[in-house]
Amino acid sequence: MSRIVYLNGEYIPEEEAKVSIFDRGFVMGDAVYEVTCVLDGKLTDFEGHMARLARSLKELAITCDISRDEWLEIHRKLVAENGLELGGVYLQITRGNAGDRDFHYPPAGTPPTVVLYTQEQPHMLDGPKVEKGVKVISVPDLRWHRRDIKTVQLLWASMSKMAAEAAGKDDAWFVEDGFVTEGSSNNCYIVKGNTIITRPLSNDILHGITRASLFRMCAEHQIKIEERAFTIAEAQEADEAFYTSASAFVMPIVEVDGVALSGGKPGPVAKRLREIYIDEARKAAI
Ligand code: PDD
Repeated sequence: MSRIVYLNGEYIPEEEAKVSIFDRGFVMGDAVYEVTCVLDGKLTDFEGHMARLARSLKELAITCDISRDEWLEIHRKLVAENGLELGGVYLQITRGNAGDRDFHYPPAGTPPTVVLYTQEQPHMLDGPKVEKGVKVISVPDLRWHRRDIKTVQLLWASMSKMAAEAAGKDDAWFVEDGFVTEGSSNNCYIVKGNTIITRPLSNDILHGITRASLFRMCAEHQIKIEERAFTIAEAQEADEAFYTSASAFVMPIVEVDGVALSGGKPGPVAKRLREIYIDEARKAAI
């Protein structure tokens, strides 16, 4: 069934949503995005996603004057129009239609292109990955060095996911200078005893909104987090591993480069954090 999508102020059927061939997002990958999870028809971590969106726009000097309240209204309207209960809202803002291909930015005042649409994800709460856990391979981190900005330049992430699939695994972890940066579309963690270890925030990784919420929840539940980089070898010796993202919540990892963790089954810490996260996210959803 055709979705109702949002394009530059209009709510229209997806087939009617057209963007120029000169759009900066299309020609230059000059665009930022967000994915906000929808649970029980409500938005989770909405404020965090909007704050990161504002930061991404500022870092790239893309002007978009839609307010937080207007974003909320657009998200809610799309969720309602499409009857979405479980899944996410994808939001993308490009630097707009430059009128031709040109490395220079279009003149100030060129309106950005704003696109939002809903995506159903019926297996977000259950399904084989949640039950069995995921297997990851490591690949070098060949992305640019402003990974803190959520841009649509996702080719290496996409290539890495394809490489993982070709190897019969589920996802890829990026490694730079001997240390894991993050997953292809998630932040990653290892567990040693009762401590969770994850890389500190910098321009090397995306500042995950799920990560930030998990940190808050861990503080409330007296679960210790150590922010430091770790290697693949350390991960292979860890008790458990998992990743977080808006579309996966907390996802147990059961294998890293062919080495099984927690007996090849989702570990107790990851399972507990997943439960806590979903429970709290549900309560706080708007
Ligand atoms: N990806 N790191 C990367 C490289 C990501 O692409 C993502 C999210 C995350 C986790 O961020 P958050 O918790 O805010 O979702 C970390 C989204 C879900 C995507 O591209 O679909």
